[in-house]
Amino acid sequence: MKNLLIISSGGDSSGMNAAIRATVRSAIAQGLKVFGAENGFYGLINHKINPLTQASVANIIQRGGTILKTGRCPEFREKSVRDQCRAYLDKLNIDAIVILGGEGSFTGANLLAKESAGHGPKIIGIPCTIDNDIVGTEYCIGFDTARNNALEAIDKIRDTAFSHDRNFLIEVMGRLTGFLAVDVGIAGGAEVILIPEFPITTPELVKKIQRKNKKRQKLASIIVVAEANRPGYSIQLAKEIKSLSDINYKVCILGHTQRGGTPTALDRKIATIMGAKAVTAVLNGESGQMVSYVQDKIGLAPFPDPKNATRFFNDVELLRMNDMICEI
Ligand code: F6P
Repeated sequence: MKNLLIISSGGDSSGMNAAIRATVRSAIAQGLKVFGAENGFYGLINHKINPLTQASVANIIQRGGTILKTGRCPEFREKSVRDQCRAYLDKLNIDAIVILGGEGSFTGANLLAKESAGHGPKIIGIPCTIDNDIVGTEYCIGFDTARNNALEAIDKIRDTAFSHDRNFLIEVMGRLTGFLAVDVGIAGGAEVILIPEFPITTPELVKKIQRKNKKRQKLASIIVVAEANRPGYSIQLAKEIKSLSDINYKVCILGHTQRGGTPTALDRKIATIMGAKAVTAVLNGESGQMVSYVQDKIGLAPFPDPKNATRFFNDVELLRMNDMICEI
């Protein structure tokens, strides 16, 4: 084992740089040469692979995004494209790949690992996504920073909501899942948290709002809405609430503000441990796996099955608890 390649792929998340730093330095400390691919899998397609040294990763632990740049690369689904990439990796004598990304990136990495079995690079993933939704790990790098970014925004909106007696729908990211919305909603004191795993109709939502309003006579309130794979849909939701109840909701879509910014201590720490663990794994000959975080322990788990790669929020008691606290 001589040459290790790092790829960051899919949506960026804060803490990726801390993971890159830890991977580069752990690998160099154990005698490997390290390279980075530019723009995710596009680096393999476009032959953009550059050496990384200890110095290349100095002063990045505190920076959001990824110094390697990233990208979503549908072309990598094609076997012919992957074959060309494998030939290029062969030419560069790459023996190991550490890939940072979410489930889409891991699907590509897993295919590459299977097609390379026995004669190609060992491949290990590090889960990175603000959605925190990868099967096999309870934590993905970037989630804590994103929830804190969203919380900061909610606290600011609260000030103006209170001052004007206004209601707000605040839409957060999360793709198909509600992990981000639930944590942000609970920590931000949201009256209602809407997530795709436990959908409610707009008339049901209106009833809920009216019941709460009657009990508490509140003049300002906040509802956290998960984007539920329909980014921007809270604008339509506000119109529907208005037409059914005459209650006004202003809409704030937090969007990509959630994804960037200085990573939190939690993201930096987990990213550092995961980076070191990924290097240990490739040196031990592991491949086709990702670093996982389960019950407070860092370990390894198989890359998720592409047909069942998304983890969903299922703690209905937590939502009931929030409802109870915000009902009276
Ligand atoms: O998967 C991370 C994520 O931020 C999702 O929450 C969101 O739906 C999506 O990426 C947005 O993707 P893009 O940055 O490509 O618009």
